[in-house]
Amino acid sequence: MPHDRAAAWALLAEFTPSQPLRRHALSVEATMRELARSHGVSDPAELESWGVVGMLHDFDYERFPTEADHVWRGMEILRERGWPEPTIRAVGAHAFYTGIERAAPVEKAILAADELSGFVGACALVRPSRRIADVPVESVLKRMKEKAFARSVDRSYITRGAEEWGTPLLDLVALVLRAQVGIAARLGLDGAPAAELPDEPVPPVP
Ligand SMILES: [Fe+2]
Ligand SMILES: [Fe+2]
Repeated sequence: MPHDRAAAWALLAEFTPSQPLRRHALSVEATMRELARSHGVSDPAELESWGVVGMLHDFDYERFPTEADHVWRGMEILRERGWPEPTIRAVGAHAFYTGIERAAPVEKAILAADELSGFVGACALVRPSRRIADVPVESVLKRMKEKAFARSVDRSYITRGAEEWGTPLLDLVALVLRAQVGIAARLGLDGAPAAELPDEPVPPVP
């Protein structure tokens, strides 16, 4: 079986029954592809491989949610199943506690994409319209300073993600927002709850 987007979705579906986590995977995938494009990537296979890192980065989380297991077990499973090493390294690089140095652009991108993709979604859901398209960039920065808002999102991941990616936070927020708009309905960020994401078919490319 090739290690492509369809295989990534199958692996995610196998380990992750949770609908919010499946949506998180798609959301981070969309951001990764947008980051790749902004980095000058145009080759479709390369774009897909950046997206796959986003889709897979938390695939083991539902089954192995502790810091002792999450990411480590995922990397092990990816290795057992023959995923390419750059993909595995990038998955491992998304959590500070793994100590995996982020050197390749795709490794910096996953840090920049992960927490912020979820955070902008939370920003959309507190608006009357519940639409991501209505979220102003500045409002995301304001929300980041509110400790009580989306408390589980560690802001240091977001600020360091922007730093390592090498863009001002404002620009990164704009990019992440833009990435979600195209798949807003699938994420439940277009004013209505999302439809169920079943194991099959593989969701369309964002
Ligand atoms: Fe994670
Ligand atoms: Fe994540």
